[in-house]
Amino acid sequence: MASELIYRGGHEAHPPTSGGAGYTPKPEKRLLWLSRPLRYLLREQRLLFVLVGMALASLLFILAPSSSSSYGSYSSAIASELALRSAMDHHHHYQRSAVEAASRGFVGGKVPLGIKRKGLRIVVTGGAGFVGSHLVDQLIARGDSVIVVDNFFTGRKENVMHHFGNPNFELIRHDVVEPLLLEVDQIYHLACPASPVHYKFNPVKTIISFFFSFLVDFVFLCVFLVVKLATFPLCFGLHKTNVVGTLNMLGLAKRVGARFLLTSTSEVYGDPLQHPQVETYWGNVNPIGVRSCYDEGKRTAETLTMDYHRGAQIEVRIARIFNTYGPRMCIDDGRVVSNFVAQALRKEPLTVYGDGKQTRSFQYVSDLVEGLMRLMDGEHIGPFNLGNPGEFTMLELAKVVQETIDPNAKIEFRANTADDPHKRKPDITKAKEMLGWEPKIPLRQGLPLMVNDFRKRIFGDHSDSNPSTTTTSKSTGSGSS
Ligand SMILES: NC(=O)c1ccc[n+]([C@@H]2O[C@H](COP(=O)([O-])OP(=O)(O)OC[C@H]3O[C@@H](n4cnc5c(N)ncnc54)[C@H](O)[C@@H]3O)[C@@H](O)[C@H]2O)c1
Repeated sequence: MASELIYRGGHEAHPPTSGGAGYTPKPEKRLLWLSRPLRYLLREQRLLFVLVGMALASLLFILAPSSSSSYGSYSSAIASELALRSAMDHHHHYQRSAVEAASRGFVGGKVPLGIKRKGLRIVVTGGAGFVGSHLVDQLIARGDSVIVVDNFFTGRKENVMHHFGNPNFELIRHDVVEPLLLEVDQIYHLACPASPVHYKFNPVKTIISFFFSFLVDFVFLCVFLVVKLATFPLCFGLHKTNVVGTLNMLGLAKRVGARFLLTSTSEVYGDPLQHPQVETYWGNVNPIGVRSCYDEGKRTAETLTMDYHRGAQIEVRIARIFNTYGPRMCIDDGRVVSNFVAQALRKEPLTVYGDGKQTRSFQYVSDLVEGLMRLMDGEHIGPFNLGNPGEFTMLELAKVVQETIDPNAKIEFRANTADDPHKRKPDITKAKEMLGWEPKIPLRQGLPLMVNDFRKRIFGDHSDSNPSTTTTSKSTGSGSS
């Protein structure tokens, strides 16, 4: 210690001179241009530099791109959580912050070996419904915390009650036409009556659910109401859910920096003039028909979603879902698969509307859930068709139901409903290439799973009331939509 003090003093008192005959330490020569405090730091604070180096290395490790799945990582979740908490604390309600951008940048970061991935906080609107409840099962299974927001218009507590008591699960009875503030990382927006029976019941409510948070939203709502409500006075309920509900959820995504996924529909293609339907096809929709509250409501929801993405830099995803079936469908919701299954089980004739030559493709619910999660966690906005390209006429579907349930079931023809699309079949090339997704379960394999569920629910056998999402099917209802 003493020698050190002596040395420093000597150095200050006798700065080295070039070509001097005495001892001239090299470091002093190189650091001549540095200020005295900096030289002191360089020489004496080696521990500090070690710590700074470790911090930089950790930062690089966290920021390094990952080849692993984007289902989130420990570090990304922590970063997102901190960023979002910070954003909330400072009430950054309407401005994208650098914190949000940073949190997104961490998505897909590496998970250090031995450290368990921390789950995300996710809202699923319509999570007590058919598709939503299966999605919730999968999200919970992979370790996320899920908040279901549902008004139980068509959904049922029974669909999610097997999660009651799980600390990672919350259920809120709430109508999405009213604003809601939750601190979350992702929003799956499914809330919308999806079957003709239900959306025709309150069509205006179905379309409107999006508009209230901001002035621009209010102006948008006024324009929309003037144009749409004059035309569709009976559709208010459905419109309200699709427009005001979607606006509210987009507003929430904007406030908390969450990623937003809209479940749109193949109905945006209307009665398509292009077959199969590619995402670039703009559709052929009757804007004043009885189905338009649903079709146009979803088209408007897509428009709002993209406007929020372009105008407010919200991270969005759009899925265009084709006919899906499986356990937990509503039994009497007017969709063709649930209709046929319920009728066959009750020994009633299968009602075929029109000549039965109109086609649809039918996707098992677990395939859809996988597609939705890949879309949400991937890097592409969409829209993406999510459906099974296997195409069946209504008569072919009736025959599959007869084979599965009752070969003696009768078929009865009825007058077709207005604007019933003649053909529907997804082109899923984009989803295959960009999401690495395609359906795996063919109709003849998935239908028996759904039939088991319907049988139990129709005939009151509740011995297995909590079917798993993907391995058993318990649902009711089918429809021609
Ligand atoms: N199942 C399909 O074949 C299909 C096809 C295309 C698109 N989709 C879309 O997927 C989503 C889910 O469809 P699904 O088949 O599960 O329908 P579903 O009717 O079973 O589920 C919808 C859920 O949303 C809830 N909901 C409706 N309005 C609400 C509101 N205003 N506030 C809060 N909750 C509300 C319902 O109670 C229900 O739980 C819908 O957006 C639908 O348009 C489904």
